[in-house]
Amino acid sequence: MDRVYIFDTTLRDGEQSPGATMNLQEKVRMAKQLEKLGVDIIEAGFPAASSGDFEAVKEISKAVKNVQVAGLCRAVKKDIELAYEAVKDSPLPRIHTFIATSDIHLKYKLRKNREQVLDLVKEAVGFASSLCSNVEFSAEDASRSDWDYLVEVFNVAVEAGAKVLNVPDTVGYTQPGEFFELIQFLLKKVKRTEDVVFSVHCHNDLGLAVANTLAALRAGARQAEVTISGIGERAGNAALEEVAMNLTVRKDYYQLETNINTEQIYPSCRLLSRIIGQPIYPYKPIVGANAFAHESGIHQDGVLKHRATYEIMTPQSVGKTSSDIILGKHSGRHAVKNKLEELGYSLTEEQLEKVFQVIKQLADKKKQIFEEDVEAVVLEEIFRLPD
Ligand code: KIV
Ligand code: ZN
Repeated sequence: MDRVYIFDTTLRDGEQSPGATMNLQEKVRMAKQLEKLGVDIIEAGFPAASSGDFEAVKEISKAVKNVQVAGLCRAVKKDIELAYEAVKDSPLPRIHTFIATSDIHLKYKLRKNREQVLDLVKEAVGFASSLCSNVEFSAEDASRSDWDYLVEVFNVAVEAGAKVLNVPDTVGYTQPGEFFELIQFLLKKVKRTEDVVFSVHCHNDLGLAVANTLAALRAGARQAEVTISGIGERAGNAALEEVAMNLTVRKDYYQLETNINTEQIYPSCRLLSRIIGQPIYPYKPIVGANAFAHESGIHQDGVLKHRATYEIMTPQSVGKTSSDIILGKHSGRHAVKNKLEELGYSLTEEQLEKVFQVIKQLADKKKQIFEEDVEAVVLEEIFRLPD
């Protein structure tokens, strides 16, 4: 079976979505959870964008060990230098540089012709490769670019040292069949050695980010750029949990493997939701409150007879418990600890004791304690920043 690399950009593209700003401490916490989830690459930020972004990428590079850390940069020498400076402490650093390739971007945004952009690609990727052996190049707005020109651009990037060629559907415009053909075309035409991987990065403007990502993987792309819960610029990016569970549940169809520990999916989505203060939409596939709820009598009867009648995956396989009511006044320390771990919190004994005591007091006043209550206690008692 072929391996697909999961590139998580929650902390970069995801953070570009309105209201999703995270502070340094929150980003490091999220990065550690992503490592636990088993992603292969964390895009930790855009170091040239701000000193806060630079610091976050630097801290994450030191905080995680078993996952590559990428810093995004424009195809500009100063940006590339900053990106390398930010990721160089990672045991597995990556520079991710990009430039637009569609005529519409060349004409109105870059005000450059195709030849000039080819020169910039050569220069930028060459310079990045002189600093770091792991360089990704993205052709921004690739899906609206001329296909033959894209081949030229990627050939130049490979010659200059790029190891990953990313094909973004920047404005969420492409259709699954069309994207499948584009990836097949590029795989056939771009001159590259076997170690050069094709990647895709799909936006969700027309609701097709996951479908387009999966179509590209079927065509032969081997890196998927995704975010937790699909957060990202405008309508967001392809949701990690949806891509991962499609590949898992339909392994018979895709014949592809990832390193994702699916039981960490729900804790990751919950943690992000808490950090950015945005709830998970109840109808959200995989992680929404309704994703495993069976309401109609016929469905309930079927599920009671055999779960497989109406369930194509178990809640446990994505790290969800089947019940919403989770703790009461008789619950012990162990139950609280289990629930915290399920929600993605690993606390010290001292922190656990503190949370446990507060939950006990709460249970005296409130009959049922919900996950939201537990998280509120943890955030207030353990992670509250000084005023
Ligand atoms: O959507 C996009 O094109 C991007 C690139 C920078 C990869 O986010
Ligand atoms: Zn993007």
